[in-house]
Amino acid sequence: MDSLACNLHNLTKLKSGVERLTLTDFRNYASLRIEADVAPVVLYGDNGCGKTNILEAISFLTPGRGLRGARLADIKRFIPQINDHNSFDFISPLNWAVAAEIYNNGEVFNIATAVEKSIRELDDSDDYRTCERRVVKIDGIKTASQADLGRYFSAIWITPQMDRLFRGGSQPRRAFLDRLVYAFDVEHAKRTANFEHLYREWYHLIKEGKRDNHWLLSLEENMAALGVAIAAARREQVAKLNTFIETEPDDIFPSVILKLEGVIEKALEHKAAVDVEDEYRDMLKRQRHLVAENENPDGINRTDFKVFFKKKNMPAELCSTGEQKSLLISIILAQTKCQTLYKGFAPVMLLDEVAAHLDDTKKEALLDKIKNLNLQAWITTTNPEIFASFRSDAQFFRIKDNRILED
Ligand SMILES: Nc1ncnc2c1ncn2[C@@H]1O[C@H](COP(=O)(O)OP(=O)(O)OP(=O)(O)O)[C@@H](O)[C@H]1O
Ligand SMILES: [Mg+2]
Repeated sequence: MDSLACNLHNLTKLKSGVERLTLTDFRNYASLRIEADVAPVVLYGDNGCGKTNILEAISFLTPGRGLRGARLADIKRFIPQINDHNSFDFISPLNWAVAAEIYNNGEVFNIATAVEKSIRELDDSDDYRTCERRVVKIDGIKTASQADLGRYFSAIWITPQMDRLFRGGSQPRRAFLDRLVYAFDVEHAKRTANFEHLYREWYHLIKEGKRDNHWLLSLEENMAALGVAIAAARREQVAKLNTFIETEPDDIFPSVILKLEGVIEKALEHKAAVDVEDEYRDMLKRQRHLVAENENPDGINRTDFKVFFKKKNMPAELCSTGEQKSLLISIILAQTKCQTLYKGFAPVMLLDEVAAHLDDTKKEALLDKIKNLNLQAWITTTNPEIFASFRSDAQFFRIKDNRILED
């Protein structure tokens, strides 16, 4: 066995996953507790029973806005009411929370996340604004940044919305790639959040006509530094996955070639990072007028993550729906193996209605791979029969009336 194959074999001995999940006032659940083994889980039940909401709750144990990219305000449980005027209204509790006991290679960690409200004074006025912010506690201690979660837990997901990942605009692909990078480089989550924050501030200053040159220059300087670091990390991740897929092609799921299309990423191919940083800063300054004219300035905020079906030499966006799903699974499997090799623990897979568009061979192959990689996958379905071959390997939970019933 060569060393990569040997390491891949060893990684199947590692185990990590969610052992206990508790939801409070989260979406349709007033309170829910699930105890699970660190083994695959199949959640089944009728449409609207709350399967995806459980996956979303687990995705909140990682940095960001979860697998739906939701607004924090939409997550707390809404309770429909009929008001005095005989029309529909909602009442809702003040907060929601997700808590989990995480097993990671012999150690157990407690992760909790909830929303905290704060009141902020607005600049240049006596007005106040209420801000909502997600807070994270690891073993009872509040962390400075959500990115710290990446040291203890990682999740990777496929959702029905991702069936259109390769077809639409570049933003979801970029976000998808950035999540793959976070798994290796926890600082990447902080950098992308900081970049977005600075970008918004820069954009609003220009739009409002506040042309404080010093302030804009300082923002451009910081954006350029962060932007180059983000582009470099994306390049590294794409190279890592391409090499991995080349060396360890999957036997069922098709090999992919991953590419980045972006001015900053391109410049980094043949220039030193410090020089690209200077160029990026100057480029942002030159593009101020685009913002004023409602146009989108170029930079790492426009990078596209392109995927090609290697054997067919076909861009993913021109592949069939089932092929696109298979390409996505190829990337997810390569990332999972790669991540386990580098980090020493596997991500938890969140597979929402994953069987849609997959033929039987591919569906069974995916289950086999989950089993052989010894990882915890949370799989949702309205029809548990299609996972019948998984009966002896997975825990089956039925969801009904906002409650969970073990088979
Ligand atoms: N903030 C909220 N408060 C209360 N209920 C909510 C909230 N957000 C969503 N819901 C409800 O939660 C229910 C379950 O949604 P979920 O998406 O988890 O269902 P599902 O089991 O995945 O269904 P499907 O099989 O159709 O995908 C839905 O009826 C939805 O309207
Ligand atoms: Mg669903």
